[in-house]
Amino acid sequence: MIKIAVLVSGSGSNLQALIDANLSGQIVGVISNKPEAYALERAKKAGIQTAVIEHKQYPNREAFDDVMHQQLLDWDVDLVVLAGFMRILSAKFVKAWEGKMLNIHPSLLPNYKGMHTHQRVLNTGDVLHGCTVHYVTAELDAGQALAQGVLKVNLHDDVNSLASRVHVLEHVIYPQVVEWICTGTVQYTKQGVLYRGQAMQKPVQFCKL
Ligand code: GRF
Repeated sequence: MIKIAVLVSGSGSNLQALIDANLSGQIVGVISNKPEAYALERAKKAGIQTAVIEHKQYPNREAFDDVMHQQLLDWDVDLVVLAGFMRILSAKFVKAWEGKMLNIHPSLLPNYKGMHTHQRVLNTGDVLHGCTVHYVTAELDAGQALAQGVLKVNLHDDVNSLASRVHVLEHVIYPQVVEWICTGTVQYTKQGVLYRGQAMQKPVQFCKL
């Protein structure tokens, strides 16, 4: 059974969706860089062990990442799931977990990498918006996309309504992608990502139009 660690910094609603999904893999631990993250409460309620590794206590990014890396090794983790983890990871850490680390980003990548995605979508006047689950690579928000949740931006949408509508989609697609990995439906190879045994050309889209 695949052993999963979830890295969080905040509320952890995506962590909750993963817990509630009864995955074929096992969430063996949750790491937070913030001691006050509500995600830690969610983990404890579900009987999942937690580790708080505060980035502020380390002299630089590499030192912080080394401690996280060791914790993941101690838990014998196969898959690292970033779920609202608000730290940029060092190239060394990303390399060590290449093909074994996922992120969810609140936009239809490659559009709107980085922060404030909902506001930027509204500013541009896009008709479609959503979220993307992707493998993590050294370049921010640029790894192979595995799934997208797509919604239609309504005339009355503002940042808050968009954020909550996108969140609903996140809670559908993230557990789905993690389950695909647990069951071998998605496989990472050096030659590229396989979906149902075939080269994956583009992310699978889930639409809520
Ligand atoms: C989500 O919007 C996700 O896209 C982003 O961080 C947020 C995490 O929310 N990466 P939560 O902590 O899972 O509720």
